[in-house]
Amino acid sequence: MHFLQRNIVLFLMSLLALSSVAQQKITYAEHIRPILQQHCISCHRPNDIGPFSLLTYEDAAPRAGFIEHVTSTKYMPPWRADSSFSHFKNENLLSENEIALIKRWVEDGREKGKIKKNEKAVQPENPSLITSTSNEVELKRFSMKNAYLIPGNSKEQFRYFHISFDNKEPLYVTSIRFIPGNKKLVHHSRVMTDTTLSLSGIDGMSADDTATYAFQSKPLSDPFLFGWVPGNNRIQFPAQTAKTFYPHTDLLLNIHYAPSPVQEKDSSMVEIGFLKTPQQREIKTITITEEAISNPPFFIKAERTAKFYMKYDPLEEDISLISIMPHMHLLGKSFRAFAITPDGELVKLIHIPAWDFNWQMSYTYPRYVKLPKGTIIYAEGEYDNTSKNPRNPYQPAKDIGLGWGTKDEMMNLVLYFVKYQEGDENVIL
Ligand code: HEC
Repeated sequence: MHFLQRNIVLFLMSLLALSSVAQQKITYAEHIRPILQQHCISCHRPNDIGPFSLLTYEDAAPRAGFIEHVTSTKYMPPWRADSSFSHFKNENLLSENEIALIKRWVEDGREKGKIKKNEKAVQPENPSLITSTSNEVELKRFSMKNAYLIPGNSKEQFRYFHISFDNKEPLYVTSIRFIPGNKKLVHHSRVMTDTTLSLSGIDGMSADDTATYAFQSKPLSDPFLFGWVPGNNRIQFPAQTAKTFYPHTDLLLNIHYAPSPVQEKDSSMVEIGFLKTPQQREIKTITITEEAISNPPFFIKAERTAKFYMKYDPLEEDISLISIMPHMHLLGKSFRAFAITPDGELVKLIHIPAWDFNWQMSYTYPRYVKLPKGTIIYAEGEYDNTSKNPRNPYQPAKDIGLGWGTKDEMMNLVLYFVKYQEGDENVIL
């Protein structure tokens, strides 16, 4: 068939397909269930972090209007990065067509349709499953020394925990998983490492405790080893790569607990996969901090908005990026990062148009992103310190500057990379 003719035929066929969907009744069984299974039930199932299950028709139908609302506003699934800017491996987004199907299902009367027998719900990875040790990898679990008593004062808690490890030899980390103890109240968590062996006294303390000031100003060996939010349970590094735990590494956790009216306990864990043989390629970290801000001071006056720009020194070698993690606190509004190569090429790294403090995570690229020697990385962060910002921790607004406390502000960008190797651009991560 002639190329043009074939295209016309294909076009007519797709019109037909479209019109048949347009006339068809939208049912739960045929159209909605697959969407919920693919995009929602990894969190919305019994004993998981979603506030209710969406496994069955009986779960979904009474909440159909609510589901329509959260999907059309793109509040759910919780994916905050702009997919027209850059894509990530762990992206979870609904297509416009899927959003429209949900809307029509609600309008058409939430019909159930016929669920075929034997059609079981797909069960995505269960975060509480115990993965076993293999020939290449030894999994080790690290628990908080003592269970933390979450006070029943209906206030959010941001607490530090220290887990002693103190390895004698270097170790090579291939995966990191955070396992929340109290799934209802553990809201998000950050895993850090320290090699000074001096932080064991900070267990259960908040960032306001003076005893935690010392390490807040001292560089940790890895201040952002892993950022956990619900649904981002595990990071697996690419084959042949690993992060090194240098001798005397201890783990630090910073856990955010949701407010609770009654006292509850939490005993969270970190599970780390160590390679049994040394890694071939070491994963290194670029941490861009407030020192790189080109329009200092990093200070946001009450009732003002502000925008800060960071510029990182030209890269000294060719690198292959693995993942990226922006970090701001409650006043953050938007975040954007990009790179410019020495040839003037623009590499879009990440854009978060509506910053959401509760859903910050590490974003892994689908493939290595090559940044040649001489590339400069830029980032822009917007902040809203007006009383109109519902996330503002102070009402009325107060001047806010740099600090680790949640009510202070930060602007960080963390990038994981390996030294570039020929062909990395084609490697699927
Ligand atoms: C990564 C985990 C995750 C995924 C995936 C997810 N949710 Fe949620 N969902 C949550 C959590 C946690 C909450 C409660 C906190 C909040 O509202 O942000 C929530 C809240 C909701 C709410 C209540 C919102 C409110 O204002 O109280 C609805 C409705 C909802 N989700 C529907 C969905 C639908 C539909 C999908 C799939 C299209 C989905 N969710 C995917 C974790 C998830």
